[in-house]
Amino acid sequence: MIEADYVLKLGGSAITHKDTPFSANTACIRRLAKEISGSVGKRIILVYGGGSFGHAAAIRHLSGGLVSSPSGIAEVRAAMLALTMELTRGFMAEGVPIFALNPSSCLVFGNGGSIRFGGAAIEAIEKALEGGLIPAMGGDIILDRGGGARILSGDTIARMLALRFRVKTLAFGTDVDGVLGPSGAIRAISRAELPGVIGMVGGRSGDVTGGMSGKLAAVRDYLSRGGREVLIFNACKPGTLARALSGSPEGTLIK
Ligand code: IPE
Repeated sequence: MIEADYVLKLGGSAITHKDTPFSANTACIRRLAKEISGSVGKRIILVYGGGSFGHAAAIRHLSGGLVSSPSGIAEVRAAMLALTMELTRGFMAEGVPIFALNPSSCLVFGNGGSIRFGGAAIEAIEKALEGGLIPAMGGDIILDRGGGARILSGDTIARMLALRFRVKTLAFGTDVDGVLGPSGAIRAISRAELPGVIGMVGGRSGDVTGGMSGKLAAVRDYLSRGGREVLIFNACKPGTLARALSGSPEGTLIK
């Protein structure tokens, strides 16, 4: 079984201009790609959020957790395809061999919102890693067995892949310095402290998948299923990703 070193989730708040619909932060994407290019030989699985592409489209069509109209589903899918292309272009410009896979092509929500990565998706990621590529999956709109479609956040994808590929570090690159406490970013959080911290932080408006509290709930679930360490860092600050990938992380480390 193939393992990976990192699952790196780049938040939509880092790779897009969160307050301007359908606006990619091209400078940030290129810089992050450049920082990744310095980690030759590391096995990295990339996951990315919807930012002002996916969220802007989804918020118009979501009702009770479901997107029902075919045109709404198509619109969210198109938004994520557009962001995928922006990311791909930025990475290619920096010489990083990104290999984008569409979760909506290989996943379906089952009863009660359950989701499972099937063999074909995992095999494609394994082959990509073996071939020196950087497999990448974005948060997406996923068809539901019961009709319509639901949003699958990049956080959930990242957590599932990190468990499957037994990574040492599941890293979340955001637009903040980490989990913010009363006096700046909290440097370390233990499993036992996590529920209290989740209660302290709130969601962000315009974010259909829950902001920081949603992220931390996913982290708690991840650790309870055997996940190792989680890093939340500021991907908008030059150098932080490169340092995280070379073993000198800044931000909040949760384990
Ligand atoms: C959301 O993914 C995907 C869609 C809205 C289609 P995320 O929830 O991971 O996105 P960010 O990182 O918060 O923007």
